[in-house]
Amino acid sequence: MSISKLQIQHVRNISSISFAPSQAINIICGENGSGKTSILEAINILGLTRSFRTNKAKHLVQSEQSAATVFGSIDPMVQGLAQSLGVERPAEGEARIRYEGSDIDLSTLAELVPLQVINADTFMLLEGSPAIRRQFLDWGVFHADKAFIRLWRGFRRVLKQRNTLLKCGSIDNKLRQVWDREFIAFSDQLTRLRTEYLSLLKPEFEAVVSQLLEGTHIELGFSYGWDKKRPLDEVLASNFERDLRQGFTASGPQRADLRLKVDGHNAAERLSRGQKKLVVSALKLAQGALFQRMNSRPCIYLIDDLPSELDQVHGELFCKVLEQSSNQCFITCVDDQALMSHWDPQTDIATFRIADGSLC
Ligand SMILES: Nc1ncnc2c1ncn2[C@@H]1O[C@H](COP(=O)(O)OP(=O)(O)OP(=O)(O)O)[C@@H](O)[C@H]1O
Ligand SMILES: [Mg+2]
Repeated sequence: MSISKLQIQHVRNISSISFAPSQAINIICGENGSGKTSILEAINILGLTRSFRTNKAKHLVQSEQSAATVFGSIDPMVQGLAQSLGVERPAEGEARIRYEGSDIDLSTLAELVPLQVINADTFMLLEGSPAIRRQFLDWGVFHADKAFIRLWRGFRRVLKQRNTLLKCGSIDNKLRQVWDREFIAFSDQLTRLRTEYLSLLKPEFEAVVSQLLEGTHIELGFSYGWDKKRPLDEVLASNFERDLRQGFTASGPQRADLRLKVDGHNAAERLSRGQKKLVVSALKLAQGALFQRMNSRPCIYLIDDLPSELDQVHGELFCKVLEQSSNQCFITCVDDQALMSHWDPQTDIATFRIADGSLC
């Protein structure tokens, strides 16, 4: 997937800009508050209809305007096509997505535009709650297996139903058996897809870590959301009284988590800030490499303030990994000179300068 033309209207301080990005590396530079992250946010709207900074659309829509719009000429398989994609995000209400003259839904859009974001929030992959790591994992499973979205929706429906029954304080035994059977069937399938995906991701992750953090061994483990030595039906049965008291299901794929360890220690507790940035970036870059291998098309990377937290050597290693991939990258930085010496002269690099929401 790549974008050959972008038109952004009414996103934060951007009234209207359009530009033709490079298929490889795009560097967006400018002073604080000039609109760099807003450009990345606009591309995120094009791929997911929403911002990565806020859940409230009214904040990303330019003041005094009713909607933000982003149009792109896109080439999903990078075969030289130019297809039109447009997303209108109103300050209030639902987003509208138009692809080649037709309305499409969000999951079709997400499948079409594989996006990866690396920004200050990406640290949450190490430091944040398990939900953030599940979201990361499920991005990969969603793109790896067509069955995932149906299973995931089915699982959410059954979990909600089981929790509603638990909240009533008592459940008819037969009814409980029916819901537990469904819960276990969805859980086993979902967990199998997650495990399979992770076994493919691990070697990709190790390869990127060895480039970015030479000599550091990071172990990537997976917790199912219950004691994997025991079958889930036994776990549900032994937890039932507690689940009933608490009014929710305490074990299952809704509790799955990724475990990152360095020399046996929790990576979030052990690593320095710069090392954490490299590890979370390696997770995202590994997903892109695996996505490319499985789908024969690259991802789009939005990397906000690449130089922050990194010394010269590691900044350069990061850039090397990016230019060796076939991903289209949009990278922001305050001073483009901080990155300029990092690239191979053969790499197709476009630099855009932004000031007060306009390209200059
Ligand atoms: N809804 C809005 N309408 C108009 N302007 C807005 C809106 N929301 C934010 N802004 C302004 O848009 C500008 C762009 O912010 P943005 O975060 O893109 O800057 P940046 O170039 O990434 O800066 P930094 O280097 O500090 O990260 C800011 O000056 C901000 O005050
Ligand atoms: Mg910014």
